[in-house]
Amino acid sequence: MNSMNEHPFLSYETVRDIAKRFGTPIYVYDENSLRCNAEACLAFPNAFGLTVRFAMKACPTAAVLRLFDSMGLHFDASSIYEVRRAMRAGIAPEKISLSTQELPEDFADEIKAGIRFNACSLDQLDRYGKAFPGTRVGVRFNPGIGSGATGKTNVGGPDSSFGVWHEYADAVKCILGKHGLTLERIHTHIGSGSDPAVWQRAAISSLDMVRRFPTVETLDFGGGYKVARVPGEKTTDLQACGAPVRDAIAKLAEETGRRLHFEIEPGTYLVANAGSIVARVQDVTDTGKFGRSFIKLDMGMTDLLRPSLYGAQHPTMLVPSLLRPNTPPRPVVNYVLVGHCCESGDLVSCAPGEPEKLATRAFHQVEIGDLCVIGGAGAYCAGMSAKNYNSFPEAAEVLIGADGNARLIRRRQTLDQIVQNEIF
Ligand code: LLP
Repeated sequence: MNSMNEHPFLSYETVRDIAKRFGTPIYVYDENSLRCNAEACLAFPNAFGLTVRFAMKACPTAAVLRLFDSMGLHFDASSIYEVRRAMRAGIAPEKISLSTQELPEDFADEIKAGIRFNACSLDQLDRYGKAFPGTRVGVRFNPGIGSGATGKTNVGGPDSSFGVWHEYADAVKCILGKHGLTLERIHTHIGSGSDPAVWQRAAISSLDMVRRFPTVETLDFGGGYKVARVPGEKTTDLQACGAPVRDAIAKLAEETGRRLHFEIEPGTYLVANAGSIVARVQDVTDTGKFGRSFIKLDMGMTDLLRPSLYGAQHPTMLVPSLLRPNTPPRPVVNYVLVGHCCESGDLVSCAPGEPEKLATRAFHQVEIGDLCVIGGAGAYCAGMSAKNYNSFPEAAEVLIGADGNARLIRRRQTLDQIVQNEIF
């Protein structure tokens, strides 16, 4: 049974206070945890300098971007819209790097504004070269191997469409030559929740590519560093993971004089455990003699898609409502936690890696009105959800500052906002 004592930054009192002041469901982020994670990334082993880019897709809310910006982090954007969103939040274009699956027609303004660009296909490189001949550019390569927590988050190897296949280096050279481009950066990202040993192999194999392109000054190793959200999962030791790569780069410098700058692009590592969802138990049901007991929360795949998509595990903790009568200790019940959407797949407690399989969480018998905290929800939750399904509004977000005060950083969406673009 998870207890609130195990929660990294929330107490019973804070949870009740936030629910009362801002309503539920609500995402709660913690400044101290965000800072601490950023410090750990800024200490990533490197031989000749490091840039840490926050993969903003993990949590694109402006207040979070600005906090990381103030700590010297740069940003990885995965679409031109993310670039624009970061710029609107006040991030300097020079600090934003775009690696995208879809390069729209109208990408020129942001390039002129000074963002960095990694071409993620031969066609993107050619289009970039036509628009900006004689400039410097990066290329994302698929190094031929990949690794992710699930098949859905593995973005390297022969079955992946991400990046230029590593055997096409000559084609890259040809396009660079055609447009007088200089390759300044090589980028790889092999998956999210990747095995550190595979990540190291991919990182070290980029050195072969560096040898083929003498103008490359920067190696961007992407993100993917694992974070344990529940017991049994393992957080990647960044120091142990990066050290052999740093040593390989130092060796390359001894041999060739090339002192390569490092970049990493963590998303999950920076934010996953710095965010939780506070939800309310809005109903409790069971299936009689079949013995299934369900907690229905006032959130679901509209706020937390990861269980339905990946069978991801998130810790859940119960905060009894103060309105409960003072009764003796209650029996423990094994509950299935479900979301509020009209889908049997809207499960919060599924079996690991099995989105359709029910799993239970033990709680002292709950009551409607109790609060439920879902941990590990800082990454790919507010930013990645089945938004507005069943016309549920997007939840609000608060940030607990270093002074312990919670402030609203994103209002709850209104019905007017949900329908605002509809034409009758
Ligand atoms: N760099 C690139 C180019 C990426 O595509 C990604 C994630 C990252 C960095 C950051 O990866 P991270 O450090 O967060 O693992 N939605 C999934 C993960 C897929 C993310 C896709 N790209 C999740 O909920 O875990």
